[in-house]
Amino acid sequence: MKKTLIAIGCFLAVLAVGQDKKNGKGGAGDATKGKDVFESNCSVCHNADSEEKKMGPGLKGLTKQDKMVNGKKPTDANIKALINAGGNGMPSYADMLTDEEKADVIAYLKTL
Ligand code: HEC
Repeated sequence: MKKTLIAIGCFLAVLAVGQDKKNGKGGAGDATKGKDVFESNCSVCHNADSEEKKMGPGLKGLTKQDKMVNGKKPTDANIKALINAGGNGMPSYADMLTDEEKADVIAYLKTL
């Protein structure tokens, strides 16, 4: 009986760890970390709290717009491509940010 309980306990612990991983890294970014990425890399040129132009367009409500400046829909993949490419006054972040940092900053942009 005791052994069975221990076995169930281990099984639950493994499940709990699995859940943590899901909420943490893989795939979707972390908006809290993304805010830091934004403040150290993007906020010189972009407002986060308005659509008013700084160097680049204000990014408030970006993901609720139909199109971005490049005419593409603001999906995760398209925003990431834009961040990687830069252009028209925006630096390219392809090598400047990790994939994780890009996912985090996109998660943050979605909260604006
Ligand atoms: C040196 C200034 C500068 C920096 C730094 C910068 N950008 Fe930009 N960004 C721009 C400019 C200028 C544009 C407009 C480009 C155009 O008109 O094609 C732009 C456009 C964008 C757009 C499209 C906005 C829209 O409404 O379509 C997004 C999204 C964006 N930047 C995200 C970021 C992120 C995220 C970072 C930080 C990782 C960043 N930018 C850093 C200057 C900058």
